[in-house]
Amino acid sequence: MRQNNQAATSESPAMSFFSSRHLYPAHLSTIKTRVDTALSRHGFDHLLVASGIEKMRFLDDTPYPFKVNPQFKQWLPLTRHPHCWIAYTPGRKPVLAYYQPDDYWHVPPSPPEGEWVEHFDIRVLADPVEAVLHLPTNGRSAIIGEADAALPGFAPNNPKAVLDYLHFHRAFKTPYELALMRLAQRKGARGHVAARHAFLGRESEAGINAAFLAAAGHTDSDVPYNNIVALNQNGATLHYQYKQFEAPSEHRSLLIDAGAEVDGYASDITRTWANGDQAFAELVSAVDNEQQQLAGKVRADLDYRDLHLETHLRLGGVLKALDIVDMDPGNMLETGVTSTFFPHGLGHPIGLQVHDVAGFSDVDGKLIPRPEGHPFLRMTRTLAPGMVVTIEPGIYFIPTLLEKLKATAQAKSVNWKKVEHLTRFGGVRIEDEVHCTDAAPENLTRDAFAELG
Ligand code: GLY
Ligand code: MN
Ligand code: MN
Repeated sequence: MRQNNQAATSESPAMSFFSSRHLYPAHLSTIKTRVDTALSRHGFDHLLVASGIEKMRFLDDTPYPFKVNPQFKQWLPLTRHPHCWIAYTPGRKPVLAYYQPDDYWHVPPSPPEGEWVEHFDIRVLADPVEAVLHLPTNGRSAIIGEADAALPGFAPNNPKAVLDYLHFHRAFKTPYELALMRLAQRKGARGHVAARHAFLGRESEAGINAAFLAAAGHTDSDVPYNNIVALNQNGATLHYQYKQFEAPSEHRSLLIDAGAEVDGYASDITRTWANGDQAFAELVSAVDNEQQQLAGKVRADLDYRDLHLETHLRLGGVLKALDIVDMDPGNMLETGVTSTFFPHGLGHPIGLQVHDVAGFSDVDGKLIPRPEGHPFLRMTRTLAPGMVVTIEPGIYFIPTLLEKLKATAQAKSVNWKKVEHLTRFGGVRIEDEVHCTDAAPENLTRDAFAELG
């Protein structure tokens, strides 16, 4: 399947879809079954899904990068196509209203092609409003989309109960989705290898980012989230958003959190590299070791919240073993000391969105609470086969949090000299995606790096 304006590289959507094409019909059938149940449970006759519209900058004629409605791209691998609609009535072939203008300012979408085409009744539109001719006017429609996608008579109503059901089930990946996610890992891993090279070659953050993008086959605007490329102490800012063009005088450490996308499915990978300093290298290696142990514990029926709390205990063990904090790890967790060094959650579900939906809700949209004192955990569900979650522990030296720790009774147990030394390196995060199966987990990220050799 060749998508609009995209070069056919070794892992272009054309190739990726080819390698996963035999899995597509079963995927579509799963999506239809989920939608059939959601509609019948909540009294709807049809599901309409808008791909979305291109949004313009304020008082400007320049668009923001188009980001498709995730509920649209789970039906078919179209991610660059505004003004399209899917209209599905249970028991019937879904209709795809496919916008293909005659446009000589931009490259227009190419004619639909690929395995998915035969599964849709495709109606080509030259004008977005023509879609109304192809949408059902009888019965009750659940219309999923942003408000600005509305057409006359078809304003998105986004019924919460329907969305809750679909969001909840999106956690369980189909074999087709897993195949695409494996490819997204491979693309991301290639980028990470190139980024590490650029770091050792003393490139700037912007230069390292460029190396990642070139190797991953992405531009800055089509990565699944903004890359975090942090040299030295910048690694202490969890979502560090800049990329300096000037290289620093020393390349002490690199924390790079960057992923890739294939047919709308994301990878989200973090690696931290040390360069010369033994204490920091030991810390990276210790966090990496704990991360692999935690990833290996992903199992059906495990409450992800328990794994998050276990992470605190393990990281507390690292702080103690490396002579950073002299306290029992359980005591560190209870008194909040581990949260000073690890102030985010263990991870989150991932798939069509990097932070996939329904990480903390049940099938009816009811909140599954976070453990008290852990407000940033994005996943509170019990693991089950088909789920893919990130496992991303970290230890950081964040000046504002360290200042707060200094004012507590636990401050006396901290080796401030070592903390001061490590602060120059920012922090460590190691992040993989792990697929929960019926048995041992599949570490999608480590497998992808191993394939690269
Ligand atoms: N890249 C953001 C995260 O790891 O969740
Ligand atoms: Mn993540
Ligand atoms: Mn990440």
